[in-house]
Amino acid sequence: ALISLRQLLDHAAERGYGVPAFNVNNLEQIQAIMEAAQETDSPVILQASAGARKYAGEPFLRHMVLAAAEMYPDIPIVLHQDHGATPKVCQQSIRSGFTSVMMDGSLREDAKTPSSYEYNVEVTAKVCEMAHAVGVSVEGELGCLGSLETGDAGEEDGVGAEGKLSHDQMLTDPVQAKDFVAKTGVDALAIAIGTSHGAYKFTRPPTGDILAIDRIAQIHAAIPNTHLVMHGSSSVPQEWLEIIRKYGGDIKETYGVPVEEIVRGIQSGVRKVNIDTDIRLAMTGAMRQVFFEKPSEFDPRKALEAARKAAKGICKQRFEAFGCAGNA
Ligand code: G3H
Ligand code: 13P
Ligand code: NA
Ligand code: ZN
Repeated sequence: ALISLRQLLDHAAERGYGVPAFNVNNLEQIQAIMEAAQETDSPVILQASAGARKYAGEPFLRHMVLAAAEMYPDIPIVLHQDHGATPKVCQQSIRSGFTSVMMDGSLREDAKTPSSYEYNVEVTAKVCEMAHAVGVSVEGELGCLGSLETGDAGEEDGVGAEGKLSHDQMLTDPVQAKDFVAKTGVDALAIAIGTSHGAYKFTRPPTGDILAIDRIAQIHAAIPNTHLVMHGSSSVPQEWLEIIRKYGGDIKETYGVPVEEIVRGIQSGVRKVNIDTDIRLAMTGAMRQVFFEKPSEFDPRKALEAARKAAKGICKQRFEAFGCAGNA
């Protein structure tokens, strides 16, 4: 059954686990996540970005998620809109049956330039009013995602002078978080602690100075009833990078957020953990391997089946590591 993000994360907070929120764009990704959830008895967050809606079309996304709910009646599912750039986008998702929306007011309407704090409060409060009236949850974002190592915003690029973020813009301030929650009423808050979107997060495995896990507990103490969200949480598995390279792909040396660091984040109060890139890497590696090893193969199902299995493996590992398994 579809439930709201607030319902699911209240349960997660009560029991101290984290929920992976996987980005979905197509049938095989949704199947992979649901199979993994079924085998580990985990609740699910399926999230669709603007890119996903453009790729699949809103009716296909909605009906595929409804099909998942029908096939797996015992698994609670949150259908979440990832990174809404405007209240209007959020309103459309609410109308089309999403049970949770993210109003990302940390960026302006172009979804690139950092916004003012006042703008962020205004648009997020507006979405909370619309969403809460119909039982839909809202995630906001405070601070700008970006690598503390390089000053790069990852895929949220084009910001600041020379596209670099200042250290201040890159970490969420607990005092401001408290004010933001009081003024908006968000159910969940995406925080900036040094993670960034995409595969190229760190040039070396991250340590305490480039990932501010300690900051999470301070923010959690300031806003204990607002669920914390960690974006850019792919771990960028080295074994999948090697498979991609072995079968003809070209991916430069790069590192993600180690699963152990995410687990520390969950222990400090993170409840929703956004993951897209890891599923992309696993699916691409698996598909490359199929076509490389069997050049005569032209049935796409052979590659997609391998991709689905690879994605499912990632999902099962995350459900288990985050303590989500056994909580459906
Ligand atoms: O927030 C970024 C997610 O990874 C979604 O990516 O916009 O390419 O669908 P996308
Ligand atoms: P990754 O690129 O690290 O998977 O992050 C995804 C994300 O934060 C989606 O909102
Ligand atoms: Na989101
Ligand atoms: Zn994100």
